[in-house]
Amino acid sequence: MTGSTDDSAIAATGETLRTVFDFAAPTFRSKYGSLEGFAMALSGPIYERLLEATSIDRGPIERDGDRATVTVLARHPAGDRTYEFVLKKQHGGKYAGCWMTVSIDLVYDGVSPSFRRMPTVRFGDRERTCDQGERLRDVLLRIDGYSPYNELAQVANCGGNGLCGTCAVEVEGETDEPGPREQARLSLPPHEGTDRLRLSCQTVVRGDVEVTKHDGLWGQHIQERTEIEDTDDAPEPIDVTQAEYDGSYEYETGSLGSGVEGHASTTDETTDRTQGVSDDQ
Ligand code: FES
Repeated sequence: MTGSTDDSAIAATGETLRTVFDFAAPTFRSKYGSLEGFAMALSGPIYERLLEATSIDRGPIERDGDRATVTVLARHPAGDRTYEFVLKKQHGGKYAGCWMTVSIDLVYDGVSPSFRRMPTVRFGDRERTCDQGERLRDVLLRIDGYSPYNELAQVANCGGNGLCGTCAVEVEGETDEPGPREQARLSLPPHEGTDRLRLSCQTVVRGDVEVTKHDGLWGQHIQERTEIEDTDDAPEPIDVTQAEYDGSYEYETGSLGSGVEGHASTTDETTDRTQGVSDDQ
């Protein structure tokens, strides 16, 4: 690393730049001479959202012989952008057989149509696009700072074989139906008795999904989903007077419906009143 201008360019772009440079083809690298030269070439408004992205999603790969293009979605607080990486298979030299970058272009200011056709997986406050048919667990593991596993299960699990049950998550959206192996594991403790969980390692993503990981080593502690919202449609709370509490309240005749005498002062009488409604119907 050399002078201060070069250092500041490197600092601004961070590890992403180094990774891109590491996978650049020798001809691409020699064009810029060094990582510092590469950083200077990419500094500026076109590439800054790629290099400072909060997350990077890989899009579909299109291959034509020894050439391939990969669309990359750079998520950035100032707005997402879609770039296209062009790769070429190397012949000869120490990188023979490797696919390496030969150019990077900004192709869409926003999420390109090719990405819009890909399913989006939302998990916590993050989201990633993925290929249709990908295993949900694989997608979740690519999301920085999140995991389909809790606690010790992050290092001790069955590796996606549908046996341990620790990758269980709640999923809303388009997925395949659970297969026999998944159904079998979900019928065992601690997951038995709920139909709200899926094993992420056995779940195939078919469209946009939203994922929730619950607490517990297996993610088995499902929180109650429904809460009564304070809206205009919500029922008004019923005022219960002290007289009703102590049983001295006198109901008006007929107030509970035709044929029901309205005196309710004891448990037995309340039972009678309920019976009266039932009999009357
Ligand atoms: S990783 Fe073990 S069941 Fe999914």
